[in-house]
Amino acid sequence: MDRLIIQGGRRLKGEVAISGSKNALLPILAATLLTDEPCCIKGAPRLRDTYTMIKILRSLGKAADFKNGEIWVKSTSRAQTTADYKFVSTMRASFCVLGPLLAKFRKAKVSLPGGCVIGLRPVDLHLKGMRALGADIDIQRGYVVVKATRLSGTHIYLGGAFGSSVLATANVMMAATRASGITKIESAACEPEVVDLAKFLISMGAKIKGYGTPLIEIQGVKRLHGISYKIIPDRIEAGTFMIAALITKGEIKLTNVVWQHLGAVIDKLQQIGADIKKQDGAIKLKLTKQLKPANITTLSYPGFPTDMQAQMMSLMSLVKGVSIITEKVYPDRFMHIAELNRMGAHIQRQGPHAIIEGVKQLCGARVMASDLRASACLVLAGLAARGVTSVSRIYHLERGYDNLDEKLRKLGVNLWREKE
Ligand code: EPU
Repeated sequence: MDRLIIQGGRRLKGEVAISGSKNALLPILAATLLTDEPCCIKGAPRLRDTYTMIKILRSLGKAADFKNGEIWVKSTSRAQTTADYKFVSTMRASFCVLGPLLAKFRKAKVSLPGGCVIGLRPVDLHLKGMRALGADIDIQRGYVVVKATRLSGTHIYLGGAFGSSVLATANVMMAATRASGITKIESAACEPEVVDLAKFLISMGAKIKGYGTPLIEIQGVKRLHGISYKIIPDRIEAGTFMIAALITKGEIKLTNVVWQHLGAVIDKLQQIGADIKKQDGAIKLKLTKQLKPANITTLSYPGFPTDMQAQMMSLMSLVKGVSIITEKVYPDRFMHIAELNRMGAHIQRQGPHAIIEGVKQLCGARVMASDLRASACLVLAGLAARGVTSVSRIYHLERGYDNLDEKLRKLGVNLWREKE
């Protein structure tokens, strides 16, 4: 296992090209199970999660290969319908193979993912959707076993206690592409990654309307075909680099970004004083004045993304005054508070709220990453801290940030890896 050592205190300056979106790619890879024809996904990020999904597709009998940012998925004669615990337990997004397998083979056996450090993360909405389409569901020794002689279009309300669900929407939308008749998903997730999946499915021949709104309508079709498709840029990687520039009082230009996907993040950063401009499809950001404290509430899209909450907390921990962050998507996603406090931050958790009293300086320390975005938050804190920060368990970072070390190095950061 590696740890990342960061020498803090350098201003970030320069240009960075954002990689393809992890959370768009993973369900899109699962969607390739809907066809026997070859599919090519372009602009794929090199991430641990990408390779995990490729392994799952191989375990399900697909031939999958990743070269030069392109993933080719082809069929073999060894199709399988069981997704093993060893994959689903390491990456929840693998649960997304359930919908495509059910649609294509009318049966699937997929391991239940279990909880994770950011909270309970149940799958009841995924199962509600499959059941509504006509599947019989049984839980056997930690696996969801689904079967259907026929899938029929229906009206499904998919809102849960914490709002809409990104992967449940994706899973049910994929299953419905090959159901007979029309399926309406109400309280569907509107995230850009769901839109990208819908566009991918439409290119394959699916008939989908209303994607990007809370009411998605899918007219089932008999067959889907293979395609070549380029995925959207990663809005969370882009947001993380914006904060990296702000926290070091730097200046950055991001290319391969979609401004609209970052609406809530840009708006909040502008409110607190960042200078952000759109320029020829790129985003330029710099700091010209002292930042102000803020109240931030995470919500599903187009609200402020939970996947940017931890990174924002690093920034606010250095902004004079009191900021409050309320986590409404995963009320327990606060493992990073204790680690930030070890670096000198003053943050208190009260239920789903974090109360952040800005400090003048963070100090480098040995800290431990607990999940992907918490790792990013600690790296950001390390960029601004006085002295050296050592972030252990950085395999979490490799799940979601493509070539992060090299990208930061190019922007002027002094960082390196050591064996734990
Ligand atoms: N929920 C339920 N029941 C369900 C599904 C979800 O109650 O059946 C709850 C969750 O516990 C949570 C809320 O609904 O409180 C929203 O969760 P959602 O289902 O939207 O999350 P997800 O689809 O499992 C995706 C991303 C996450 C991101 C969330 C929210 C992927 C692969 N993962 O997860 O990304 O935080 O949406 O935007 O797309 C990350 O990239 O670091 C990450 C965790």
